[in-house]
Amino acid sequence: MRICYVVAMVAEAKPFIERYGIQLVEDFFSPLPCQLYEGEVNGATLNVVLNGQQQGSDLIGCEAASVATLSAIQRLHPDIVVNSGTCGAFKKNGADIAQVFIGSGVMFHDRRVPGDNTWGTQSLGNYPVWEGSQELAKALGMKTGKVTTGSSLDMQPCDLEIIEKNGGELKDMEGAAVGFVCSLFNVPILYVKSVTDLCDSGAETFEEFSRNLHQACEALKVANEKVIDYLINDPKL
Ligand code: ADE
Repeated sequence: MRICYVVAMVAEAKPFIERYGIQLVEDFFSPLPCQLYEGEVNGATLNVVLNGQQQGSDLIGCEAASVATLSAIQRLHPDIVVNSGTCGAFKKNGADIAQVFIGSGVMFHDRRVPGDNTWGTQSLGNYPVWEGSQELAKALGMKTGKVTTGSSLDMQPCDLEIIEKNGGELKDMEGAAVGFVCSLFNVPILYVKSVTDLCDSGAETFEEFSRNLHQACEALKVANEKVIDYLINDPKL
């Protein structure tokens, strides 16, 4: 079995790369920016594909996540892709900093295009998530929430309107892009997201995100250890 994590930021992946002692495979995706880490866990292959960096900073966002996911699927043929990272969430939904959620669905919130059942609907995404996501969340005692993706860290009123109308709960910058590519190949996608900031806290998002990043990434590592154990033993995969 091969489990492939797609992760945007080094800070998000580092705690569990170190935990499993998985190794960088240099230039595997060259000339693309994404980077492959590979190792073995209890007889399964564990891959972590990072989006990569440009000018010294992580390539966050949908474009790099699409490239990483496409390359990972075509080159590695994983049984499941796990998109793991940080997110914003809403205190009105009861979310807390460093709480880890499993994605129950995935959509875009910053594609404002008209048309029911045409471009408007397509632009929202709403791609399928792995059918075992709810069961996994229940077994591991984690909450679920709908991932909602846009290209900005901040949230404009027009984003919030789409998020509220479509039940978005976990605001990130990659999830729907990863889900889109997985849907093209029928590869199951599981989301594991840890909260760095509360979009309705009134705080400045980047300041709140930066302050809580370390704590959220440690929580993500602990959650991912349980997720990996669960996936390795899941007969459905
Ligand atoms: N990643 C962490 N927090 C985020 C937020 N508020 N919006 C988008 N991506 C995020």
